[in-house]
Amino acid sequence: MEIIIQPTAEAATNVAARLIANLLRAKPDAVLGLATGSTPQLLYRELIALKLDWRKVRTFNLDEYIGLPPEHAHSYHTFMWENLFRHVNIAKQNIHIPDGLAKDIPQFCAKYERQIRAAGGIDLQVLGIGTDGHIGFNEPTSSLASRTRIKTLTAQTRKDNARFFGSEAKVPHHVITMGIGTIMEARQNLLLAFGAGKAHAIAQAVEGPVTALNPASILQMHPVAKACLDAGAASLLLRSDYYRWVYDNKPDWQQF
Ligand code: PGA
Repeated sequence: MEIIIQPTAEAATNVAARLIANLLRAKPDAVLGLATGSTPQLLYRELIALKLDWRKVRTFNLDEYIGLPPEHAHSYHTFMWENLFRHVNIAKQNIHIPDGLAKDIPQFCAKYERQIRAAGGIDLQVLGIGTDGHIGFNEPTSSLASRTRIKTLTAQTRKDNARFFGSEAKVPHHVITMGIGTIMEARQNLLLAFGAGKAHAIAQAVEGPVTALNPASILQMHPVAKACLDAGAASLLLRSDYYRWVYDNKPDWQQF
């Protein structure tokens, strides 16, 4: 995993935005895997400001709450439209977000996997990380080979996300999420984490053992995984001096 530590969330986001912008310029019909939550909000703001051409871009979101209609204020459909899609020239038919109201959820999940494959696979997957180490909504003990499916949120995640809903009681218990196996098939994974609240999860993911107890740790097995961190999220890393040196001294031929 390539660990990119920047002083602030803004600077770390800037690195991630440049990476995505370069991809969209090189491959205008790229397939992006997208994430929701507080972490990617800055990234989407920066991508909007770059005025990229999204006409042919295809997107697949990681997850959605079961039981929330798309127009619900706290659905991830609403999040994506508010934070990105309505500000760029993306074609509606190229947007894919799990359907929280799907009647036959296993069938819907199998179709989502087929749609990702039919699009040629995900070129770059944006990821946040939960304080419990989840990626997507793959909570600790998720199968490291899992595909898109139903998951039950942990009490910790429901507590973390209560800020969006106003109270913990309103946070749904169940979600549809891409699986860890699905995420691992993306050609590139780009993990973002900001703030000291994520430091423990990041330290476990980057320098701990690969374990389903910290699902993000599976990224150690991915050939092209980058983590863009601010100083807070990186604060428990044992080898941060090394990661900083590597990034600051990248030879030209190694720039992305
Ligand atoms: P956050 O969520 O960006 O809102 O902290 C990250 C996640 O749960 O993956």
